[in-house]
Amino acid sequence: MEKTLVLIKPDAVERNLIGRILSLYEDRGLKVTALKMLNADKETAMKHYEEHIGRPYFENLMNYITRSPLVALVLEGDDAIALVREINGKTDPLEAADGTIRKLYGETKTYNTVHASDSEESAAREIEIWFGR
Ligand code: PPS
Repeated sequence: MEKTLVLIKPDAVERNLIGRILSLYEDRGLKVTALKMLNADKETAMKHYEEHIGRPYFENLMNYITRSPLVALVLEGDDAIALVREINGKTDPLEAADGTIRKLYGETKTYNTVHASDSEESAAREIEIWFGR
């Protein structure tokens, strides 16, 4: 059993997509084991995206992720990290496969609807950031 951290980002919450997105994970056998809605503050957002500090899109990314509520959740299941990234699709919605969340709902590389951890290390780090206190 593996755990992974997912963010249902502000664009998705604004468009009433929380339920549809959660169904896509649950339908594949993943279990929601923690979930909360919050307005991300800048400090938390920076910690989460610290490897992107200095990139040209960083300020846009911060404004987007803090602009309105998001949903943070932990999903658990066999190979959850890889499975969730498959369900989400590629970072750029234009490159995402049919049926993936980003293909269905993503707008751009920045406004791409969902985030998921990319390794066991980042899952542990990100679960601590969003659920550690
Ligand atoms: S990539 O394509 O390999 O750089 O993408 P990745 O490393 O998986 O994720 C990059 C995260 O930064 C967000 N972001 C952008 N990436 C690339 N270009 C632009 N312009 C950009 N704007 C924002 C992107 O949405 C990824 O966030 P997450 O939450 O991990 O999907």
